[in-house]
Amino acid sequence: MELRGMRPAVGSQRKLYIETYGCQMNTGDSEIVLSIMQADGFVFTDEIAQADIIFVNTCSVRDNAEQRIWGRLNEFKRHKKQKPGLIVGVLGCMAERLKESLMEKQGLVDIVAGPDSYRSLPDLVRSASDGMRGINVQLSKEETYAEISPVRLDKNGVSAFIAIMRGCNNMCSYCVVPYTRGRERSRDPQTIYNEAKGLFERGYREVTLLGQNVNSYAWEPDGTGFAELLDMVAGIDPALRVRFATSHPKDLSDKVLQVMSARENICRSIHLPAQSGSSRMLEVMNRRYTREWYLGRIAAIKKYLPDCSVTTDLIAGFCTETEEDHLQTLSLMEQVGYDFAFMFKYSERPGTKASRSMADDVPEEVKTRRLIQIIELQNRLSLESNRRDVGRTFEVLVEGTSKRSPQQLFGRTSRNKVVVFDRGDHKPGDYLTVEITGCSGATLYGSVI
Ligand code: SAH
Ligand code: SF4
Ligand code: F3S
Repeated sequence: MELRGMRPAVGSQRKLYIETYGCQMNTGDSEIVLSIMQADGFVFTDEIAQADIIFVNTCSVRDNAEQRIWGRLNEFKRHKKQKPGLIVGVLGCMAERLKESLMEKQGLVDIVAGPDSYRSLPDLVRSASDGMRGINVQLSKEETYAEISPVRLDKNGVSAFIAIMRGCNNMCSYCVVPYTRGRERSRDPQTIYNEAKGLFERGYREVTLLGQNVNSYAWEPDGTGFAELLDMVAGIDPALRVRFATSHPKDLSDKVLQVMSARENICRSIHLPAQSGSSRMLEVMNRRYTREWYLGRIAAIKKYLPDCSVTTDLIAGFCTETEEDHLQTLSLMEQVGYDFAFMFKYSERPGTKASRSMADDVPEEVKTRRLIQIIELQNRLSLESNRRDVGRTFEVLVEGTSKRSPQQLFGRTSRNKVVVFDRGDHKPGDYLTVEITGCSGATLYGSVI
């Protein structure tokens, strides 16, 4: 191969292993990191024992997320002992939140890089190799990694995440994300379109457009909003499924619902985190909507998209939550009939509005009991939702082999429910018509027709 004139491979084939925690945003970010590192001559390995560099892309959203990562960092110490020169880098939200204090524990971490500083990672690795530990936690008002083409780590080759914006301006009082991810900024729609089109041409059949609050997507140079962006991406091909997350209830517009109803390949599934069913709690949380507003948005979804699934996030035991507030959450769940929910116990995060000015005053055992009640109710609602699908027929996009048996495949319906069925001669990326013959609370079982 002719090497003259080519840039030397600075990473010189050193092997990089990445571990990712937290939300889908982080999954997407790890793929951007890999792209940046590969362009500099580093190569990816999925075997930690082979790694010259370990990156851990972290999450700070709840204390238990951070505790788990501390545990992992301590395990990496063993690898460092066995392999002198091994570099460990902490990326993402925990890097941003804890900054220098991560560096203070000797022999644990060589690099700390916040979510907007990934372009500097190759330099940070080079310095670390020369014995200079490095940190970059500068947040940016502009960085969107717009032109970087992520290296896909998902492996199924069918569905991919595309970040359409970064940061968050909402300042929910319990939430650390605005502090770890910085100000909200939208990515150039043309680069989003090109990325989605490129994926479709490479055989991908589903993209999920990601942002902390996708409904506030706004590309100022030409006035593209989320509804227009969704329409553009869905227009690439009817065989490309389009999903998105997360919608903030205060900003979910009728216009977006209209675009969805006009384009069948935009999936009939909306993740609309309520957090609480009590208007008083929503105020304390600074969510900027009421229970009534939220139910109004649910009614609009049902009007434009009668067969749309609705999923949510709920927090149990936030500051000042009374039994009455908690019952309101349970009644909201019943009223909406969620198909699925992520449910959490409130975890105080240093630096947030709540930690500065509110007492974390719901006793631990009360939080636990309320969370259990929420989970039990959701288990019933999920099962009821799945039972309603038995006997119906859905279009399923095949994603891969079922965890239960190599003889079975799994895929998803437009409503984002997992369906398991016999393999036959089908393969990932196929669209199949499947009749649902049975279910559990989490899975539908069906046969291909
Ligand atoms: N931007 C998204 C979600 C971001 S974080 C949205 O606004 O919906 C994902 C979920 O974590 C949140 O919806 C919330 O339910 C939960 N969460 C955030 N901070 C939390 C905290 N301090 N304690 C418990 N759960 C929290
Ligand atoms: Fe956090 Fe609220 Fe922003 Fe979601 S919208 S990331 S919960 S501040
Ligand atoms: Fe966690 Fe950061 Fe995502 S705190 S949930 S990784 S934005």
